[in-house]
Amino acid sequence: MKKIKICSLILASVMAISMAACSPSDFSIGTRGSEIHVGTVDPANANGKVGISMPSSTQERWVRDADNLVNSFTDANYATYVAFADYKIDRQIQDIKKLIKEGVDALIISAVDSSSLTEALDEAKQAGIPVICYDRLIMKSDAISYYVSYDNYTVGKIQRIIVRDQLDPAHNPDKIFNVEFVAGDSADSNARPVYNGAYAILSHYIESGQIRIPSGQNTFGESATPQWDTNIAKSRFKNVLGTYYSDGTTLDAVVCANDTTAAGVIQALDSDYKQDNPVLITGQDGDEINLQYINEGKQSMTIFKPGENEAQVTFELTLAVLDGETPNAVFLEDKDWDFEVEFDNYTFSNGSKVVPSYLLSPVLVTKDNMEEMLSKYGQTETENK
Ligand code: BGC
Repeated sequence: MKKIKICSLILASVMAISMAACSPSDFSIGTRGSEIHVGTVDPANANGKVGISMPSSTQERWVRDADNLVNSFTDANYATYVAFADYKIDRQIQDIKKLIKEGVDALIISAVDSSSLTEALDEAKQAGIPVICYDRLIMKSDAISYYVSYDNYTVGKIQRIIVRDQLDPAHNPDKIFNVEFVAGDSADSNARPVYNGAYAILSHYIESGQIRIPSGQNTFGESATPQWDTNIAKSRFKNVLGTYYSDGTTLDAVVCANDTTAAGVIQALDSDYKQDNPVLITGQDGDEINLQYINEGKQSMTIFKPGENEAQVTFELTLAVLDGETPNAVFLEDKDWDFEVEFDNYTFSNGSKVVPSYLLSPVLVTKDNMEEMLSKYGQTETENK
């Protein structure tokens, strides 16, 4: 695990935050909630203050994301305040309220529960604080200024194409394939588009009976995994294996929505699957353990969504908003980014407004291209492991 220096303190009073001299970023996995991590830029001499509220410190990607955002804002002389809610809705609401009280100029939020922040964000709106949804669209709030994310439907679509191409039902019309689905957290607005992207087209084979789902758990609701949690995915899958595969039925593929759920499924297969065929497993994020699984042949693919790029867009967008601009498609024109971003001003309705969105493109990673992709995106740091 990456060794870290954390600058944090229990927030009895946010106003009493002291500026300890430690690195603003370098959070560790497991950086606990109920703390606000304060960056190194002195708010008194800063260009502004930015509050960052992340859903979890136990899932690798959010720790990386917080790191990336803090680094960008620190370089631009912005004071940063980071809170990890550890999948507690109430804690995230409290975090946001504390950040508002702290007087941040902008809020960057990745929601634990997409639909639970309405009231907290009303407070942000009243205080004139712009809110950027980071990676996860927040529903039921007109206080949102922008949404920055990777295209989640495409994430699922890449997973489905891998499953379809590797099982190749079209060229094996006499063969029946057994597939299971492990979807993400139903409280996360990203989970359903990933599932929909993965299910489309495969549904054609499911309807024709060439792809079977022995557990029968194929709707989003039936296959969802609260908090995208590895242990929950593992225990559900142990159940599935014990009930539907212990008679020797062969499992061909598990369409896992991301790497944390894939890890749970792989652990369940390791202990409870007795057949000796390789099982195709999908994922997303490029978490360290999953890259290892891919190298070992236990997982077939993952999807990189380079966090530096997502943070870069969020950072530049936030600065533009703080400058009084109203960014739209033109905002992208003068960027010299070496990655693609699309502006979308019609797809992402959150129930209160259509949220202007900037979408990045996810990248497929398999054993074959992993080295190249790692050197290109280098998103996981394995130092001190
Ligand atoms: C993100 C995924 C991540 C999942 C669990 C989703 O909102 O888009 O990248 O794997 O949350 O953390």
